[in-house]
Amino acid sequence: MTPEVTSLGYLVITAEDLPAWREFAESILGLQVTRSPDGTDDDALYLRVDERSWRIAVEPGSNGGVVGIGLEVSTREALDSLRKRLANSGTQITEVPELAARRGVLDVFTALDPSGHPIEFFYGAKSDREPFVSPRGAHFVTGTQGLGHIVLFVDDHEKTREFYVNTLGFRVSDMLIMGPDCSFTSPNPRHHTVAFVALPGVEPALQHLMLEVDEIDAVGRALDRVVDNDVPLSLTLGRHTNDHMLSFYCESPSGVKVEYGYGGMLVGGDHTTGHFDAASVWGHRPPPGAEVMDGLGAED
Ligand SMILES: [Fe+2]
Repeated sequence: MTPEVTSLGYLVITAEDLPAWREFAESILGLQVTRSPDGTDDDALYLRVDERSWRIAVEPGSNGGVVGIGLEVSTREALDSLRKRLANSGTQITEVPELAARRGVLDVFTALDPSGHPIEFFYGAKSDREPFVSPRGAHFVTGTQGLGHIVLFVDDHEKTREFYVNTLGFRVSDMLIMGPDCSFTSPNPRHHTVAFVALPGVEPALQHLMLEVDEIDAVGRALDRVVDNDVPLSLTLGRHTNDHMLSFYCESPSGVKVEYGYGGMLVGGDHTTGHFDAASVWGHRPPPGAEVMDGLGAED
């Protein structure tokens, strides 16, 4: 099947310290702070990554919370068709009045994935007439590949796979098998858009968001900023086995990890599912004294 969902369109998370997140987003990641998409005086932080009016929103709330994983659908017809198909498959869908205006999209409905992660299916995102200007000179790889990728802790791997692969139609690019299975899935050429793993004793949560930049030096400069500003480094620079991403991981002020990478592979229609028993070719090690990242960190 051709999935109605095309990409990760946006992400809405919560944080206790919004000024700290703003500083992290601007000074470390190089994202552009902007106004709310509906122009109201919202108390959330809205961030631009590209020509879209926003891609990441941080609302006041508990650290680590996720309000909405925005999965973009190509057209109004595709959104209507997905809405019907999900309802018929027994997925509870919810229409939220005013949400489309708040998100700056033409239509949206919400649903929960099998672990309760809140998904917002939408079409018709707003683009800004003003160009995106990164305060750190970064250019992010988005377009048809979307905002980036996310890795989710889930409570049931098979049910989650049923939802993202069988119901939504995402391709399984590969599996990481080093303990509990981790599946890497996507509806577009980005190697993975949503990856998920069920770790014993770990509650469902957003583990990390990956943002991809268009040159290797942009990763190095960001890593310098992380080190210079004492931002907690979660994993050192490394190269992933599966998507070949050259990246490091750091911790945002709300605890969600951010992977900052370059050179992610694109997957075509002739790709076959493979598997790995290690996450990285080299690197991606916890720095001395750092807390070891759950699940997908260094494997030694
Ligand atoms: Fe990642």
